[in-house]
Amino acid sequence: MIVLILSFALVWNKAQSWGFKDGVLHNSIWLERAAGVYHREARTGKYQLTYLEAKAVCEYEGGRLATYQQLEAARKIGFHVCAAGWMAKGRVGYPIVKAGTNCGFGKTGIIDYGFRLNRSERWDAYCYNPNGKECGGIFTDSKHIFKSPGYPNEYENEQICYWHIRLKYGQQIHLQFLEFDVEDDTACMADYLEVYDSYDDVTGFVGRYCGDELPDDISSTGNVMTLKFLSDASVTAGGFQIKYTAVDPPSKPSDGKNTTSQGKINFLPGKFGIL
Ligand SMILES: *[C@@H]1O[C@H](CO)[C@@H](O)[C@H](O)[C@H]1NC(C)=O
Ligand SMILES: *[C@@H]1O[C@H](CO)[C@@H](O)[C@H](O)[C@H]1NC(C)=O
Repeated sequence: MIVLILSFALVWNKAQSWGFKDGVLHNSIWLERAAGVYHREARTGKYQLTYLEAKAVCEYEGGRLATYQQLEAARKIGFHVCAAGWMAKGRVGYPIVKAGTNCGFGKTGIIDYGFRLNRSERWDAYCYNPNGKECGGIFTDSKHIFKSPGYPNEYENEQICYWHIRLKYGQQIHLQFLEFDVEDDTACMADYLEVYDSYDDVTGFVGRYCGDELPDDISSTGNVMTLKFLSDASVTAGGFQIKYTAVDPPSKPSDGKNTTSQGKINFLPGKFGIL
C-alpha cells in the first residue's frame, strides 16, 4: 500500500512538472505509437480518464484498450511513455524502456499498478489499433510525403490519423500540398485535414482543410508540426499527398561553418528533443 501511494506521488510530481517549458506545451496529447499501441490522454489534460472513458477514447478511434502483453510487445521495440494509463480489464501501468530516476523508479519494463478495484480513478489510456498503423506516425527525416490512407485509392470512412513531424532544433518545416481531394462541406465538419504548428492538436492551430482546391504552402515557426486527418461515417474522396521538407536555419555569413555544427549540438534526440 505504501509503495502504491509513493509511486502515485512520484508519477503525480512528474505530471505536475509538465506544462509550459521553453515555449513548448508538454502536457498534451501524445500519440506516439509502436506495434499498433499508442498513448492517449484527455483533451483536458493528464490523468483525467476513468476506465470507461479510456475505453471509449480507444473505441472512438476504432481501437480498444491495449492488453498488458500488447503494451509489453510495443515496449520491446522502443515504446516509452512516462504516464500511467488504463489497459484492458482495468489494469493500469506504463512502458519504460530507458531507466530513469524520475520515471519508473529506475526500472525498465511495464511499471504495473495492477488491476484497479476502483474504476473511477483517473489515468491516461493505452489503446491498441493495428489497422490504424499505416495512417499517421512520427517523422524525423528531413523530407517525407504523407498520403491519405490507401492512396491513390479513395480513403475510407471513419479514419483518424495523426502525423507528427519532429525535426532538429532550429530547423523549420515547409509543407507543400501535392494533391488534395477531401469531401467538401462549408465548415469542413465532415472530413478534414487540420494542421497544427505544434507537436499536438491542442495548440498552434493553423487551419482546417477540405474540398479539392490545393491549400497554400505552410511553414512552421518551430521544429515540430502535427497533421490530423479525420473522415466521418459517409462519403469519401480521392485523398491527398503532402510533402514536407526541412528548412535549415539561415546561417550568418560571419560565422559560416559554425552555425551548422551548433545546430547539431543543440539537437537532443528522444521524446523531449523539441525542448
Ligand atoms: C474511487 O476513486 C475516485 C477518484 O479517485 C474517488 O473519488 C472515489 O472516492 C473512490 N471510491 C472509492 C470507493 O474508494
Ligand atoms: C566559430 O567562429 C568564430 C568566428 O568565426 C571563431 O572565433 C570561433 O573560434 C569558432 N568556433 C568554433 C567552435 O569553431
